[in-house]
Amino acid sequence: MSRILIFTGKGGVGKTSVAAAHAIHSAKSGVKTLILSTDMAHNLGDVFDMPIGKSICQVTEDLDALEIDPNYTMDHDFKDMKRAVINLLNSSGLPMDTIEAFNLFPGMDELFSLLKILDIYEEGKYDHIIVDCAPTGETLTLLKFPELLSWYMEKFFPVGKIAMRVLSPISKAVFKIDLPDKDALTDIEKLFVKLVKLQDLLKDSSITSIRLVAMAEKMVVEETKRNYMYMNLYNFHVDSLFINRVLPKDIDNVFFDDWLDIQHKYIDELEAIFANVPIHQIPWFDSELKGIEGITRIEDTTLKGWNVFEAIKIQKGESYVKSGEDYILKIFLPTIDSKALDMHESTNDIIIKVGNFKRNISKPNALRNYRISGAKFTDQNLMITLSLG
Ligand SMILES: Nc1ncnc2c1ncn2[C@@H]1O[C@H](COP(=O)(O)OP(=O)(O)OP(=O)(O)O)[C@@H](O)[C@H]1O
Ligand SMILES: [Mg+2]
Repeated sequence: MSRILIFTGKGGVGKTSVAAAHAIHSAKSGVKTLILSTDMAHNLGDVFDMPIGKSICQVTEDLDALEIDPNYTMDHDFKDMKRAVINLLNSSGLPMDTIEAFNLFPGMDELFSLLKILDIYEEGKYDHIIVDCAPTGETLTLLKFPELLSWYMEKFFPVGKIAMRVLSPISKAVFKIDLPDKDALTDIEKLFVKLVKLQDLLKDSSITSIRLVAMAEKMVVEETKRNYMYMNLYNFHVDSLFINRVLPKDIDNVFFDDWLDIQHKYIDELEAIFANVPIHQIPWFDSELKGIEGITRIEDTTLKGWNVFEAIKIQKGESYVKSGEDYILKIFLPTIDSKALDMHESTNDIIIKVGNFKRNISKPNALRNYRISGAKFTDQNLMITLSLG
């Protein structure tokens, strides 16, 4: 089965370099690999020292690269989906310029980057798809968008029957429902089906891993903690942390004494927070990492001696557990202060708010008649009890 590895972290910490090192490592073992960037400020071309554009191009025998341009992709590959999105927005009753002016759907443009990734995955040409992302905030907006849009569509647009059938994995298994003939679907229904597939793909821990890149300093550590928590809130699978630019312990220069202490302190902190997640340190090299040769330094120091592309099993972000007559929805939310958490429910959804982020979790069909009867926070897990109401 192909794997998708998504790299994200604070600006400038080394995301592109670490992603590129993974890509080189993969291609060297003779595995068909694609590295693609969803960051609008693309720089894969700089790393590989060659022009890389909005169409897939070859870097080495087994390595291809692509800098996705969401607008080009939208017009070129997804004309019908674009039409669907426009119809959908028109149907919201809001004038188009209002939607654009207020950026009511942040993440909309980049959605087409994700649809492209879905297409490439389904085409099956690559064993490893390495995704170099924009810094934290934009990537979270991007990754949570498919769920948000499909939630919106289900609520406000009559994608009705197929929606219900496709959405629930339970109904897929129990009722063995096949999708209606593709041609019989409207554009909007096709978009909806794609969004559901996209979520299945991105949240399937045997396929997609999120790998965080950080550095051992205060601001980066704070952002990395938040990033990790939000990734779990949205049920993405963070399966590695790379701490980049770690100073060698034996530097013989007093200038670095304080820096060594600082790094030591923050590495300890990261190790405590990411107790369940494998951590890899990357040394601070004596020069910038130019071209494939530079990136290979990361490969040599950090990607040897372990199975880099294996799907790593770690604590699950979200699960339902039966408890007597009730169900408990368990969500792993590391580092969070429970006071920062807000929660309520509607007939069909559980809504969890942390800071500026909100997630609407649709109750599974089987639990639609259940209501929240209690919630507590234990061992970094939010445990929500659902009882038949
Ligand atoms: N371990 C390292 N030692 C020395 N230089 C490094 C190391 N890691 C990255 N660099 C250099 O730091 C710079 C930033 O790295 P990179 O572009 O990979 O970061 P990024 O997180 O992708 O940045 P952006 O947020 O701008 O996309 C590059 O010039 C790279 O060569
Ligand atoms: Mg980058």
